[in-house]
Amino acid sequence: MAENAYAGRIVVVTGAGSGIGQTCVEVFQQSGATVIGWDLRPADDSTTAVDVSDWDSVSAAAADVKERYGRVDALVNCAGIITPNLPAEETDPEDFRKTFNVNVMGIVNTTKALFPLLLESDSGAVVNIASQAALVSLPHQAAYTASKGAVAALTRALAIDWASRGVRVNAVCPGFTATPMAVKQMTPALEEALARRVPLGRMFETEEIANAIQFLSSPLASAITGVVLPVDGGWTAGEPALPM
Ligand SMILES: NC(=O)c1ccc[n+]([C@@H]2O[C@H](COP(=O)([O-])OP(=O)(O)OC[C@H]3O[C@@H](n4cnc5c(N)ncnc54)[C@H](O)[C@@H]3O)[C@@H](O)[C@H]2O)c1
Repeated sequence: MAENAYAGRIVVVTGAGSGIGQTCVEVFQQSGATVIGWDLRPADDSTTAVDVSDWDSVSAAAADVKERYGRVDALVNCAGIITPNLPAEETDPEDFRKTFNVNVMGIVNTTKALFPLLLESDSGAVVNIASQAALVSLPHQAAYTASKGAVAALTRALAIDWASRGVRVNAVCPGFTATPMAVKQMTPALEEALARRVPLGRMFETEEIANAIQFLSSPLASAITGVVLPVDGGWTAGEPALPM
């Protein structure tokens, strides 16, 4: 995106301390935006300590944004967690609760708290980070998969409720992307399987996900709302390795 495409725009990014969120902060800053980063574990002073699963924490941070900037042009919800790989029947219900509290309630909280500030923008936009797991199940990740399915459904619900108010809401579904979260999951066997299973044959860089997020946040996507966009190298398009 052009260097000053976001000049004067106010962008809130959750999960700003690591991985895709951290890259989103850089990409939006490079195009001239003022970026407010929120994270449970801020990497440095430029990020505010916010627990997106906690309404009081989010609403206090939103009040601060209101006081300083008076509006939000784009909200990018990257904060998320994944639980250890386990068969569904061995997954503790508490792991479902924890995962839903961050991945789903985090977005419920940030969108509700910042909606009045998105209304103050002439082109308010929300981009939620779901996952390829919202579209095609991953093995031994029932809690994560269910939570990301809920993110996709919540995205469509918010898009429909807010379209007439001028706020667009979309989601991206990244495939395996080189971040601390994905590295935790990676084994040589998984890496080899990914090379076969992903039509583009590889993992993705955080910039490739951030670029799609920035497009959906921008006025270039002014006719797009309620979309759940795979950014997964074709994973959810089909099976490339059948010997046909
Ligand atoms: N990396 C992948 O392969 C991949 C694939 C699909 C989807 N995703 C999704 O992309 C998003 C970003 O993932 P990532 O890979 O960059 O992970 P990451 O672990 O590198 O970063 C996630 C960030 O979210 C923050 N966070 C966690 N809980 C929080 C809370 N309660 N409040 C505020 N911040 C919190 C963490 O501190 C961390 O900085 C997540 O929603 C993840 O599910 C990632």
